[in-house]
Amino acid sequence: MKLILLGAPGAGKGTQATRLAEHYSIPHISTGDIFRANLKAETPLGLKAKEYMDKGLLVPDELTVDLVMDRIAQEDCVNGYILDGFPRTLNQAAALDEKVAIDAAVDVEVPDEDIVKRMAGRRVCPSCGEPYHTEWKVPKKEGICDRCGAELIIRKDDEPETVLKRLTVYHDQTQPLIDHYGKQDKLVAVDGTLSVEEVTNAIIAKLEA
Ligand code: AP5
Repeated sequence: MKLILLGAPGAGKGTQATRLAEHYSIPHISTGDIFRANLKAETPLGLKAKEYMDKGLLVPDELTVDLVMDRIAQEDCVNGYILDGFPRTLNQAAALDEKVAIDAAVDVEVPDEDIVKRMAGRRVCPSCGEPYHTEWKVPKKEGICDRCGAELIIRKDDEPETVLKRLTVYHDQTQPLIDHYGKQDKLVAVDGTLSVEEVTNAIIAKLEA
């Protein structure tokens, strides 16, 4: 199963990708997590990506496409993968189309006003990437990741002004991908305002229909 997760920043792509990766036993590949891991390790890629991420802008395609192509060529991707946050531009989608035939592009639909509320309460694990929320997904021990025990943080790009910028960038550059995959008959749209579990169940039901 080769899946793409589309959706605005904060729509729940990471949350759903983790659950779907477990369900289908395939790797979850998040370009945002790869950039953040590089930033933490202070690699040249991470430092370059930071310039864009902190402003709510997309990292240029030339830094992103090869990274993903190399990752999906690895051994653990032989039975498929879930791409979370890639592709995000029509150029990236064209580069992916050239290399692989994906099975479906899942669009997690959430209105902008809900996104702003979600981002305000988001906390993330800097170690394993698991997302939490102060109201809707509270860790068992305050401020600590249930999965790996690391201390949760607030992402720098979750500041309200940056979130609004990311939403604008999403509507301008990423939303056209909905049409792109619609034309290929690969689009699966789900209501992302439902509970986390309901969204997962809706995705699996539609993929298996
Ligand atoms: P990235 O890390 O991909 O960020 P994003 O797309 O903006 O998405 P988020 O991680 O913010 O949100 P999400 O949809 O995963 O939601 P989550 O599950 O966390 O990218 C960051 C940056 O990296 C980009 O801005 C860009 O600069 C760069 N980048 C990455 N990929 C790139 C690419 N391909 N090209 C160029 N640049 C790239 O959920 C959000 C919150 O809501 C959480 O608190 C969660 O607990 C909660 N939540 C989730 N689902 C529900 C629900 N159903 N009900 C209630 N709450 C929920």
